[in-house]
Amino acid sequence: MSHIAYVNGRYLPQRLAQLSIDDRATQFADAVYEVTCIWNCAPVDHAAHLARLARSLEAIRIAAPCSAAGLTAICREVVERNRIERGTIYIQVSRGVAPRAHPFPADMIRPGLVITGKHGVGPSESVADQGVKVIAIPDARWGRCDIKTTGLLGNVLARQAAVEAKAFEALLYRPDGFVTEASASNAWIVDADGIIVTHPLGPEILGGVTRTTVLNLIRAAGYKVEERPFTLEQARTAREVFLTGTTTFVMPVVQIDAGVIANGVPGTICRDLRRRYRAYVEQSTASEAAWAT
Ligand code: PDD
Repeated sequence: MSHIAYVNGRYLPQRLAQLSIDDRATQFADAVYEVTCIWNCAPVDHAAHLARLARSLEAIRIAAPCSAAGLTAICREVVERNRIERGTIYIQVSRGVAPRAHPFPADMIRPGLVITGKHGVGPSESVADQGVKVIAIPDARWGRCDIKTTGLLGNVLARQAAVEAKAFEALLYRPDGFVTEASASNAWIVDADGIIVTHPLGPEILGGVTRTTVLNLIRAAGYKVEERPFTLEQARTAREVFLTGTTTFVMPVVQIDAGVIANGVPGTICRDLRRRYRAYVEQSTASEAAWAT
């Protein structure tokens, strides 16, 4: 089935959809984006993704391309036209089109808006049942990882290194030894005291929408959780390690580089959280409320 993309006011077959070579997304990564999971033909945490998009736009001073209701209507149309039951939608907003020059264009330009859809989301359940291997790699990204910009070269190179090492993800660590997150997911451990730990919000990490939902599920389940940095060494010797993200859900990690985590099988807490998150996804997409902003 050919995909339909929304590009600056028009729905087009994806193979015909184009951006101007002067779109600032192409030359400066002067753009932000969101990826939302579609389940039961409806979005998971739609309002939270739109809120983060608004925050990213504000952080780099790009005007909203349209209202939240307008964006929602286009997202729905993309899901419907592409008949996506389970998959993802991608929303990208750039500063717009202008002759190449580093500063913001002096004249007001219209932000560029692209929304595309994709069938299929995340790895299979059997991958999650076995748990995955990750590699550890220095975090070589810029200082504002909280802004979801399309400037992803550090993430791309880290993920490529993971693929070449036959690993699922790359765990990123700073020179001080603290793990920030992974190339496209947030990182968590369960420490020796049974406390679930993840990096606090701040410029070092993307505030994952899944991270927030999983924090809520953790608290509702009565687990102990702390938002504080943990080191790579603490991750290597943790009881459990796992990742969260729109396309990963909750993913148990059973190996970092050559070192096996605990006894090499997914831990009970992350298996329980994966089950709870799956139930949340099912339940939250089962009604019209999924599209509420
Ligand atoms: N990435 N950290 C980074 C660096 C990410 O790129 C992502 C998501 C996350 C998890 O955020 P969320 O739970 O909101 O998906 C954390 C998306 C999926 C991507 O770039 O494709």
